[in-house]
Amino acid sequence: MRLPVFQPFRRGSIAAGSAICIGTDMKNILFVASEAVPFIKTGGLADVVGSLPKYFDKNEYDVRVVLPKYLSMPWHFTERLEFIAYFYMEIGYQNKYVGVFKLVHDGITFYFIDNEAYFGGAKPYGDIKFDLEKFSYFSRAALCILPVVGFRPDIVHCHDWQTGLVPVYMKDSFRGGEFYQNMKSIMTIHNLKFQGIYDIKTIRRISGLSDYYFTSDKLKVYDDANLLKGGIAYADYVTTVSNTYAEEIKTEFFGEGLEGLMCARSNSLCGIVNGIDYNEYNPETDWRIPFKYNAVNFRKEKWKNKTDLQQQLGLEVNQHKFMIGLVSRLTDQKGLDLIACVMDEICSDDVQFVILGTGEERYENMFRYYDWKYGNRVSANIYYSEDMSHKVYAACDAFLMPSLFEPCGLSQLMSLRYGTVPIVRETGGLKDTVEPYNQYESTGTGFSFANYNAHEMLAAIRYAKHVYYNDKRGWNKIVDRGMAADFSWTTSARKYENLYNWLLGW
Ligand code: ADP
Ligand code: GLC
Repeated sequence: MRLPVFQPFRRGSIAAGSAICIGTDMKNILFVASEAVPFIKTGGLADVVGSLPKYFDKNEYDVRVVLPKYLSMPWHFTERLEFIAYFYMEIGYQNKYVGVFKLVHDGITFYFIDNEAYFGGAKPYGDIKFDLEKFSYFSRAALCILPVVGFRPDIVHCHDWQTGLVPVYMKDSFRGGEFYQNMKSIMTIHNLKFQGIYDIKTIRRISGLSDYYFTSDKLKVYDDANLLKGGIAYADYVTTVSNTYAEEIKTEFFGEGLEGLMCARSNSLCGIVNGIDYNEYNPETDWRIPFKYNAVNFRKEKWKNKTDLQQQLGLEVNQHKFMIGLVSRLTDQKGLDLIACVMDEICSDDVQFVILGTGEERYENMFRYYDWKYGNRVSANIYYSEDMSHKVYAACDAFLMPSLFEPCGLSQLMSLRYGTVPIVRETGGLKDTVEPYNQYESTGTGFSFANYNAHEMLAAIRYAKHVYYNDKRGWNKIVDRGMAADFSWTTSARKYENLYNWLLGW
């Protein structure tokens, strides 16, 4: 038997970008996630969960979001939260307090689940065992609060391993009740590397799930239990954040041990590329950057951000210097060992390199070392700052992102938006969003290389540098094309809408 396969743009012949309304009834969608801007952010997941809900057709979709109420959230949000209710929830053999708060922000309703024993820490994530317990609690609580807040979603849209148990609970203890009947679930994989794994005994205890769930076709992997696997196995549909990554995760290298399951689910798996919030990331209106510019006047205005940043960071002030930026979590995923391998070659006389990131100590120290070694050419900013990230996107000429794997990547999209030319490795979303420069046909929005090889990366950097210094018109045309590319949420939000409609049988 052939199963029906979802095609983002085929069914109902809805064209990309069109806003055709199918039916008049409102569809209720609940996003469940562990982070969302502007409340709490450790990476791209927060950007997606905080911005995508704003881009659905409000006449047809009521999209709300449920998040943990972290104590580390900025105070100006915490003080605006409206208390809704509290109750006690059974999970495993325990009875846990669940507080529910609400905030309407930018037209979107956010619910916050309060339990300071779980969410009182300085950061959203820490010790994995404790994280597993708190996000099992969170996943169950996200479903339990729904009758209390009076919102019945048609679809519960889960994001990453922290919410992996939601689809499992929906088919378990929540299946019988009328309120939850026929509710569908979607699991979106933002990064298959993180799965939420621990021994079966522990997960069984903290989740309250019965032995039935701990077999190899459900949560079990070898002798352990895997929360994301549960979500993927039980969700009605699975998405990931680019087409290429949707294919890659069916292979051994990218599949992180779940490639078999990904292949098994390939009839109900698709990639929908991320967008970015074009209001938040807009060089024409961005209050975080000193000199505004747009696709028309960037030739005259953008460089002023460069000299301003050079001054601020103690680099040689020279508007003509080729400045490369890197804004990233400093982890293996991001291809930093390639940079380590050829850092001396990258930092030649005619380059400036600005790094903003935090993460693994060895990479933090590596960049600190090169900052010390090439003081007026390299600036290592080992901290997290939203303000500084915008300044780097606006000031640099090129942006380096040589990832080992990249489910989608948002930094290259931000760079394109700010007229900063991405230099990327052709993997995952980087491959889908950066078109390599072709000097003969005058096409392309960036520079790329295929193999995970430091000297291939170096060649791409040198090629970009060559075009920058020797063919400024050609370079500016690359910037033109990059700034004209549309990676707002418009197209991708329509694809999610089509998926929702398809799942609900519209
Ligand atoms: P990932 O989610 O894998 O970290 P993405 O490219 O999808 O990668 O998203 C990264 C997000 O985090 C971007 O919004 C980027 O600007 C931001 N970011 C990463 N490191 C920092 C930092 N040190 N300071 C500010 N923003 C950062
Ligand atoms: C993950 C991925 C990144 C993606 C982001 C948002 O953190 O590493 O590639 O852009 O999620 O989907």
